[in-house]
Amino acid sequence: MLTQLFYNQVIYSDSAEDWQLGFQDPATPIMEGIINLHHDFMFFICGISIFVSWILVRTLWHYQWTKNEYPSAMVHGTIIEIVWTITPSITLLAIAIPSFALLYSMDEIIAPAITIKTVGHQWYWSYEYSDYMNEENNTIMFESYMVPEEDLTLGQLRLLEVDNPMVIPVNTHVRLIITAADVLHSWAVPSLGIKCDAVPGRLNQSSLFVKREGLFYGQCSEICGVNHGFMPIVVEAVSLPNYISWVANKLSE
Ligand code: CUA
Repeated sequence: MLTQLFYNQVIYSDSAEDWQLGFQDPATPIMEGIINLHHDFMFFICGISIFVSWILVRTLWHYQWTKNEYPSAMVHGTIIEIVWTITPSITLLAIAIPSFALLYSMDEIIAPAITIKTVGHQWYWSYEYSDYMNEENNTIMFESYMVPEEDLTLGQLRLLEVDNPMVIPVNTHVRLIITAADVLHSWAVPSLGIKCDAVPGRLNQSSLFVKREGLFYGQCSEICGVNHGFMPIVVEAVSLPNYISWVANKLSE
């Protein structure tokens, strides 16, 4: 419980905060890339917003009828038209290149060491670790339900805590297979930079490489029925030795 408080309130922000405006702290290279791309775009967005507002205000000012009853009849200007065609196309190019670079790097699945299947249900998530098998030929499979408000202990997060989090090791390439058993759901964890639709009858794939230990909180992000808001996601990133003992424990259950 204390470590939970520590992770969430002191060091990193891995869950939503009250009146939050920015992103949660990244834990994967992908989320770092998304945040950097956002900041790159913000540079252009600020410049364009200020420039367009300025033009608008100046136009209203100069074409106010009391000031200028007979406005200029000028309708054409070659230089200005070249400028306002070339400038936006260069701007678009400048944002398209880093955007595509990130998009393709997000698609990349780099030799995954672990494959985890996550299935959305009305209204909980279940996880399958089919890489491991015990003597009775059972693989790891469990359900992850939200902890109801009356069962929360001090420091736990309302509507975000689950009974069985998905456990993964840090600094390991993980392949996520995402699907749904009934209706559309969406597996989304902001700190990990993942939001992937869970579609019945279809397997979506995403990759995950978590750089630090911690508890990462997310929520179902596709309206899936009355309890859509009550099927949160918790990813627990642990060190490799801890992960191995977790797997051993799960297999012996
Ligand atoms: Cu499941 Cu929304």
